[in-house]
Amino acid sequence: MSGVCDLFKTYGLNESLAFEADVDGVKLLHRSYNSIVYKQRSNPPVIWKLYDSNEACERERQAFKILGEYEGIVPGETKGCSISKHKWMKHGTLTDYYGRHGNGLCKPINISLVINIIFQILLILQHFHSLGLLHLDIKPDNIFVVDPINPLFSLGDFDLCHSVKNTDSGTPRGTYPYCSPEATSHQKNWRTSAADVYSVGKTFWEIMTGEDYPEKQILSPDIKALILTMIDKQAEKRSTINTLLKNPVFEKYLTGRRRRYLQRKFTIQTCDRFAKKKPCV
Ligand SMILES: Nc1ncnc2c1ncn2[C@@H]1O[C@H](COP(=O)(O)OP(=O)(O)O)[C@@H](O)[C@H]1O
Ligand SMILES: [Mg+2]
Repeated sequence: MSGVCDLFKTYGLNESLAFEADVDGVKLLHRSYNSIVYKQRSNPPVIWKLYDSNEACERERQAFKILGEYEGIVPGETKGCSISKHKWMKHGTLTDYYGRHGNGLCKPINISLVINIIFQILLILQHFHSLGLLHLDIKPDNIFVVDPINPLFSLGDFDLCHSVKNTDSGTPRGTYPYCSPEATSHQKNWRTSAADVYSVGKTFWEIMTGEDYPEKQILSPDIKALILTMIDKQAEKRSTINTLLKNPVFEKYLTGRRRRYLQRKFTIQTCDRFAKKKPCV
């Protein structure tokens, strides 16, 4: 990983820690094929992410720039061309918080909480898409628990984000089990909002059942039907986020008050941007 030690130095971290696990207040949290994530036990603690490629860091930088101080994301900023700094989320991700099976999948979460999580993720994605930004790596490992008691969630990990302004066609595909068929079969122009919808559908299934594919008949028919509209093999047949948010399942499991609160929370900035032109209703 080039330049990591220099960057560690630049940002006040001891370069000898770059590949070590748990020394001097810096703990290795996660290592993947393209990044290493550390927690620095400062007050408050911070998260450092070191990228293997400048392109991944650049995608993350662009996403932060487009999103600004949006409530639905894990706050952070990029530093230089291969490192980023993030707010430490003390509850971690869905898999950190609710647990993981031996096969890596998230353990099932109770039904009303799952509906709450999916509603929030759809609202957050709606905001992303309204700004011309696709996340392209939605999965339980990238959904963070902000508050488990008054359930609030946010999205993180923007190193596969794709902006419509970016003409770079070399962005890698997301994480295989959550990746849409058009992405895995290398179709042209696979980067659309429908690809994100597919990943939310797979995430939905996993956190409901602890399974990775819709085989078991343990779901109520309305929820199963909703998930199936999200994971249709044909991108153009998948429901859009606007249609999904109107599905009666969300009315069944979330009060009108809760839905309105979440809608205000996660769409407020879209309203603000246009506030001078038209009132936000
Ligand atoms: N801000 C954060 N707060 C707490 N844990 C984090 C934070 N960022 C990352 N992590 C932990 O590190 C893991 C990997 O981080 P992520 O940014 O998703 O990297 P990658 O691109 O390698 O998936 C997450 O799944 C989570 O467990
Ligand atoms: Mg991740």
